[in-house]
Amino acid sequence: MEPMTSDIAQHGNPRRQGEAARPDAIPPYSALTFLECSRCSAGPYDADRIQGTCTCGAPLLARYDLAAAGARTGPDQIAARPPSLWRYHELLPVGSAAAVVTFGEGMTPLLPLERLGADLGVPGLLLKDESPLPTGSFKARGAAVGVSRAAELKATGVALPTNGNAGSAWAAYAARAGLPCLVVMPADAPEITRAECLAAGAQTYLVDGLIGDAGRLIRAAVADRPGYLDASTLREPYRLEGKKTIGLEIAEQLGWRVPDVIVFPTGGGVGLAGIAKGLREVRELGWIGGALPRLVAVQAAGCAPIVRAFERQASDTQPWPDARTEAFGLTVPDPFGGFLVLEAIRATGGTAVAVADEELLASQRHAARAEGTWVCPEGAACFAAVARLRRAGWLAGTDEVVVVNTGAGLKYPRTMPASPALLPAGGQVPPGPAGGRIPPGPAGPARSPRRPGPAGPRT
Ligand SMILES: Cc1ncc(COP(=O)(O)O)c(C=O)c1O
Ligand SMILES: [Zn+2]
Repeated sequence: MEPMTSDIAQHGNPRRQGEAARPDAIPPYSALTFLECSRCSAGPYDADRIQGTCTCGAPLLARYDLAAAGARTGPDQIAARPPSLWRYHELLPVGSAAAVVTFGEGMTPLLPLERLGADLGVPGLLLKDESPLPTGSFKARGAAVGVSRAAELKATGVALPTNGNAGSAWAAYAARAGLPCLVVMPADAPEITRAECLAAGAQTYLVDGLIGDAGRLIRAAVADRPGYLDASTLREPYRLEGKKTIGLEIAEQLGWRVPDVIVFPTGGGVGLAGIAKGLREVRELGWIGGALPRLVAVQAAGCAPIVRAFERQASDTQPWPDARTEAFGLTVPDPFGGFLVLEAIRATGGTAVAVADEELLASQRHAARAEGTWVCPEGAACFAAVARLRRAGWLAGTDEVVVVNTGAGLKYPRTMPASPALLPAGGQVPPGPAGGRIPPGPAGPARSPRRPGPAGPRT
C-alpha cells in the first residue's frame, strides 16, 4: 500500500509495546510491536495498518517485544505445540489464532543425506526439504503468514509478481482466506504454476518479460485497486516473517543449536534474509548460543547479481543483463533486497556461489539417484555449490551443512529426462543390473535452454 508518511513514522502507535499482561489475561498470540526500516532504521512504523516500504524506499522489517515473547514461551512449550510453523506464533505477526489461514504448513523434514554427503565429501550433509509444503514449495510459508496478516488487516485483495511458485502459494492461501488474488508471471515460469493460480481462482496473467516487468504491471494495477496489498517480494513486511521459520525449524530440529553452514538458493533473497532474521531473534532470546551458521547464497551462473556484488565487495547489487536459467525461481536480475542478503552472508562469514545450469541439473539427477529425492533445480543448485565449496576447501569434511531444497522437482518435469524403453506387450524385460547403485548418467539440460529475456527493473 502507500508508504507511511514520516509524520506517522514519528508518531506511530506501535501496539503491544511495553504492554503489561494482567495475570488473568490470555497472553497475546503475537509479540509484534512495530515495523522498522531495514536500511535507515526509521520507525516505529505502525504495524496495525497495511504498510509498504519505508519513506526511503527500503523494505520494512517486523520487530517484536522479545523479552515478552521469552517470558511467555520457550523451547519446552513450543515442543508441545502442533507441528506447524504457527508453533512460533509469538515471533510471527498474526494477532490471533482465529486470524490464521492455514493448510497445516511447516515442520518439514530435516533429513540426513549420508550417501550423497559421502559422494560430495561432506558426511554431515542434511536436507531441509520444503517439497512437502502445500503448493510444493517454501513459498507456502510466506504466503501463509502474509495472507493471514493481509486478511487480518482487512486488505481487499492481494497482488504479486512471481516466478511461479509464490503465485501458486499466494493464490491458494488467498482462496482459503476468501480474498481475491492478482498474479502476473513471466511466460517462461514453470507451467504448472499457471494452472495452480487459475485453479485457485486467481486473476492470472503472463508477461512477455521477466519478474521486474511483472512487478511494474502489478504496482500499476494495485494503484487502481483500493485496499489491495502489493505483496511483491519485500514490498510488504510479512512474507519474510513466514520464511524465517525455516531457520527456527532447523534450530529446533537440531535440539536448539545451529549447523555450521546453511546453503540456500537465492533469487529475491527473502528466504536467506529471513533465516538470518529468525536465527538472530532466537539467539537474542537465548534459545541458541554462539555464532550463527555461515550462510551461503547460491545463484545460477545465468543470473547471479548477488554473487557478483559479493565478489566485488559491493553493498548492493547491479541489474544482471540477459538473465536466464533452468532454475527459474532464481531469475531475479535486480533483487530489491539484495543488500539484505549481502549483509547476512558477510555478517555470518558466509559466501555466495554461482553454478552453471549443467552443474545444477547434473546435481539434481545425482541427488535423485543417490537419495531418492527429486529436488527442484533451485535446490539442486545448492548441491552443486556444496561440491564446489568442498573442492575449494571452503567447506571442511567435518562441517555440518544444511541444504535447503525449496521445492518439489515434480513442479519442473522437463528438467528430468523421462523416456524409458517401450516394450511390446508380449515382450520381455531385458536383463538388468544385479543390484547396487546405478551409475550416473550423462549430465546436461533435458530440454533446450530458455529464450533470453530482457533484464527487468527491480522486483
Ligand atoms: C523453488 C524456488 N527456490 C528459490 C527461490 C528464490 O527464493 P527467494 O526469492 O526467497 O530468494 C524461488 C523463488 O521464486 C523458488 O521458486
Ligand atoms: Zn528507510
